[in-house]
Amino acid sequence: MSDFLSIDDFSRTELEDILELAARLKQEYFASGNRPLLQGKTLAMLFEKPSLRTRVSFEMAMRHLGGDVIYISSGEISRGKRESIADVARVLSGYVDGIVARVFEYAHVCNLAKHASIPVINGLSDFNHPCQAISDIFTIMEMRPQIQGLHLAFIGDGNNVATSLMLICMRLGIHFSIASPEGYELEASVAARGMELAAETGSEFQQLRDPATAVSQADIIYTDVWTSMGQEEEMEQRQQVFQPYQVNMDLVSKAHPDVLIMHDLPARRGEEITDTVADGPHSIIFQQAHNRLHAQKAILVRLLAQ
Ligand code: CP
Ligand code: NVA
Repeated sequence: MSDFLSIDDFSRTELEDILELAARLKQEYFASGNRPLLQGKTLAMLFEKPSLRTRVSFEMAMRHLGGDVIYISSGEISRGKRESIADVARVLSGYVDGIVARVFEYAHVCNLAKHASIPVINGLSDFNHPCQAISDIFTIMEMRPQIQGLHLAFIGDGNNVATSLMLICMRLGIHFSIASPEGYELEASVAARGMELAAETGSEFQQLRDPATAVSQADIIYTDVWTSMGQEEEMEQRQQVFQPYQVNMDLVSKAHPDVLIMHDLPARRGEEITDTVADGPHSIIFQQAHNRLHAQKAILVRLLAQ
């Protein structure tokens, strides 16, 4: 592993290895604290968008592992205005041991990786959110150790979170269905990749319109905001279009009685998810958020520990 940009860059074995390492590091952390596996290493954190979970979990992961971080906000770098991404990558490569970047365009984090001689981690782009997907599967495995053959239903926007989640589900034998309104499906190239992976791995991939159909076989219901960062001017329209896609008790009652509810957070409570569901007995959303810490550690150790 030299960078962590997209789930699709990794084989099933590599993904399973990261998930096993996350479990080991979590167990070790609660038993006796982590070993200083990243002592002397520094991670630069380049964030063009706000973040609570990704930022804090990466920072704490580095501290727990004996390393250090430098947070760099977008104003500091003024991407493309003050200097090119390529030059930022070349300069940082001489100072630090790795970069985590949250960017608007996926091409920007890829460009950073192309020109950096140190590992680059994608901490969310408009296209995907691979770190989230690792943590999500790790959380599912804690709740349902036999993940093979589980059904996950994603309700809502075919966005960055849905993209990475679909790819990891397809790789690991979890059936994935997504119910989205017309015009808000997964990108055509992503859906085509989903179909390809389904043929390769035997995991089912379904694109649906009706949320009730999607959840009817679901072991896990997953949702995310209707309006992602960078789409704020579409918010009003999206609030109307997505209304029938709210994950509420009525929808949850159509799934298995022991269905798990997931959300990557932040949530707009009362829009894509109701309080009753988010705080109800099926919800594992905070376990999911907390597991970002352990998932980040596994990614960091695989990339930065020599
Ligand atoms: N889920 C997630 O990535 O949260 P943040 O935007 O707060 O990092
Ligand atoms: N889809 C959301 C995820 C936030 C973690 C966004 O991009 O804003």
